[in-house]
Amino acid sequence: MHFKPILKALSLFSLLTPIHSAALKSTTLTQAERTKCQTTLTCPKDTIFVSATDSRAHYKTIQSAIDALPNDSSSQTILIMEGSYTEQLNVTRAGPITILGETDSKALTDASKNKVTVSYAAANQDSTGTIDNIWFSVLVVAPTLDASLVGSGTTGFAVPADTPFGNRDFRVYNIDFVNDYAPYTDGPAAALMFSRANGGFYYCGFYSYQDTIYIGKLGNAYFYKSIIAGETDFLYGFGTAWLQSSDIQLRSCGGGITAWKGTNTTFENKYGVYIVDSNVAAANTSIASSIKGSCALGRPWNSLHRSVFANTYEDGSILPAGYIDWVVDGVDRFEEGITVMAEYEAYGPGFNRTARIDGGIDSLLTKKSYATYSSPEVVFQDQEGKFGDVSWIDWETVDAK
Ligand SMILES: *[C@@H]1O[C@H](CO)[C@@H](O)[C@H](O)[C@H]1NC(C)=O
Ligand SMILES: *[C@@H]1O[C@H](CO)[C@@H](O)[C@H](O)[C@H]1NC(C)=O
Ligand SMILES: *[C@@H]1O[C@H](CO)[C@@H](O)[C@H](O)[C@H]1NC(C)=O
Ligand SMILES: *[C@@H]1O[C@H](CO)[C@@H](O)[C@H](O)[C@H]1NC(C)=O
Ligand SMILES: *[C@@H]1O[C@H](CO)[C@@H](O)[C@H](O)[C@H]1NC(C)=O
Repeated sequence: MHFKPILKALSLFSLLTPIHSAALKSTTLTQAERTKCQTTLTCPKDTIFVSATDSRAHYKTIQSAIDALPNDSSSQTILIMEGSYTEQLNVTRAGPITILGETDSKALTDASKNKVTVSYAAANQDSTGTIDNIWFSVLVVAPTLDASLVGSGTTGFAVPADTPFGNRDFRVYNIDFVNDYAPYTDGPAAALMFSRANGGFYYCGFYSYQDTIYIGKLGNAYFYKSIIAGETDFLYGFGTAWLQSSDIQLRSCGGGITAWKGTNTTFENKYGVYIVDSNVAAANTSIASSIKGSCALGRPWNSLHRSVFANTYEDGSILPAGYIDWVVDGVDRFEEGITVMAEYEAYGPGFNRTARIDGGIDSLLTKKSYATYSSPEVVFQDQEGKFGDVSWIDWETVDAK
């Protein structure tokens, strides 16, 4: 009698295990298979090729390749051949997808030398609050329209409770996503909007001015050796983003680099943006002189904002106080002890310890207080709040450096 519940728990566990780890790992490309495919176009069987001009391609546009994928749990690989594509992309499929950009062996680990660009020019200029930012992004990943909407107010769009989770293992390598609506802040113009899904972006570039990357509710996104360029609130959202060994390029300053809207949950959550072992610097030397000492690390989109810059280099563009508050209708969004606008072992000319302390809103974490945020395993969590599933991150690539 007493063993029954345990047996039940065990069989449930053994049913779930292959779906979450083993099955995904065995069907995902190894690093050797991936790099061979990207550099020689010798790819695993069933890889779908895209090119607007090359006769070896199966599809001329990326979205037509995405639309052709079966709506099931199989792992699928798409290789985008060298070129510039002008498209808006929308991925709703739940099964694993790997999207590779063609490149050469010298450029494989350098996002500044990517040979595939997906661009689109669109920005939300609606001032009535009725048109959602989602319609203006280059790439959208979310299971349904409702799951993707930003909405407004302190809690954003209320996603219906029966909304399914979306993609559980989405991977992109060596692709630039560019929203080139205007070369300055002119309304939300995302390169990526990613909600209710788990995904990794390796050696990718994301270029815009305002709201470049949005990680929506239940979005878990990992960025590795990627470039994120922007001016205003260009890392924003509700979900969880981890930027590892990446370059944050300041094209000017407005708002903050980060602007997060936290959510109250029944479980402990660590929704927020973590920028680790990265570089935050002006996009070029001419912009560096005009923005010296003026870019804020972030501002709270609501009082539950959470952002941490850890072991990260900051050039002289950063505001001496680090972060700024966001005051709306006379109300401070920053709340002492609730809002987490933090740094841990940040360094470089943009890090002024005295000014940070004087400013009074930037938390300088100790080794002990940073421990709670110190790895992807301790921050990424599932829909129910469980931490630790990072099987969707390409550790073979990350650990190889
Ligand atoms: C894909 O499958 C899911 C799960 O069965 C379903 O909810 C969704 O509507 C399907 N999507 C399309 C576009 O058919
Ligand atoms: C993405 O595709 C889904 C399914 O076709 C659709 O309901 C949704 O509106 C699309 N989202 C965007 C932003 O185009
Ligand atoms: C420097 O970056 C700014 C912002 O992106 C851009 O407008 C300008 O053209 C760049 N200048 C050079 C010389 O590349
Ligand atoms: C979170 O909960 C606190 C305490 O109940 C409340 O003051 C705050 O407004 C809530 N914030 C959001 C964004 O729901
Ligand atoms: C750091 O900030 C303090 C306080 O605002 C200021 O007096 C000092 O000059 C700054 N140091 C540097 C190196 O900019």
